[in-house]
Amino acid sequence: MDVKTCLEKLGYVGVLNFATVDEDGGPQVRNISAVHYEGTDIYFLTARGKSFARQLYRDGRVQISGYTRYKETIRISGIALEAPEEEQLQWRDILYREQPYLENVYPGETKNIDTIFVIKNYTIEYFCLSTRPITREYFTVGDGILKPKGYRITEACIGCGKCARVCPQKAVYKVTDKDVGNVEDETVYKALDKGEDKPGDKSGGKSGDKSGDKATGKGGSRATPNSYIIRQNNCLQCGNCFENCPVKAIRRH
Ligand SMILES: Cc1cc2nc3c(=O)[nH]c(=O)nc-3n(C[C@H](O)[C@H](O)[C@H](O)COP(=O)(O)O)c2cc1C
Ligand code: SF4
Ligand code: SF4
Repeated sequence: MDVKTCLEKLGYVGVLNFATVDEDGGPQVRNISAVHYEGTDIYFLTARGKSFARQLYRDGRVQISGYTRYKETIRISGIALEAPEEEQLQWRDILYREQPYLENVYPGETKNIDTIFVIKNYTIEYFCLSTRPITREYFTVGDGILKPKGYRITEACIGCGKCARVCPQKAVYKVTDKDVGNVEDETVYKALDKGEDKPGDKSGGKSGDKSGDKATGKGGSRATPNSYIIRQNNCLQCGNCFENCPVKAIRRH
């Protein structure tokens, strides 16, 4: 999976769920279909007077989620900013061209109440339940910052193997000699530990190539033989290993 494919999939989904935070800190979610993808930038249209717009002006945090028929969820977390005034008409024209039904919603001059927001810095969580084991991947675009999630086996592990036995997806495995220094699973956490901004680079998916935006990859594991490790890309984050570890060696993020 990569950023470009995730955005293409969201484009096919069409109507997405956009969540914001209201003035009481409560969640607010609604359907939005007027979305335009320009490289990795995500433009969307709303009306200035809607609660949605007011929440974005006050607190730009936004989360978008889309679900595909292949049992995939693509979730984007970022900050939405109003597009610069001099660009508003350009993006509005593009959105009206791509979504002709908008003319029915805001005919003629009434569309002057529209405003366009853009999300340029964000993270993507790709989650797919149609593979066995399940697939989870993270990506960053621009200055998006990944927040660690899920579970991690710490150095307090005594190697009893209980977590591996209770894992519904077989996402916990025993590190062998040949794995050491070549383990892919905990890269998200290793990068955060090292104080890196984030795993991967900042190129996003703009070039359309493989782009280095993937928040997973090989190398640098501190895993030692006979220790256990969670393959983050296959983890449901269900917590079964955490609840069953006899020495509380599993940390929750
Ligand atoms: C299929 C569908 C697509 C929609 N697309 C948009 C859209 O692109 N922009 C928008 O502002 N509202 C859109 N709406 C309407 C919003 O979902 C609706 O106005 C919502 O109440 C806005 O949230 P708010 O009440 O928090 O402002 C759409 C509604 C539906 C049913
Ligand atoms: S993490 Fe806990 S349950 Fe898993 S092998 Fe280590 S000690 Fe056992
Ligand atoms: S959180 Fe659940 S899926 Fe992930 S490793 Fe633990 S038991 Fe397995």
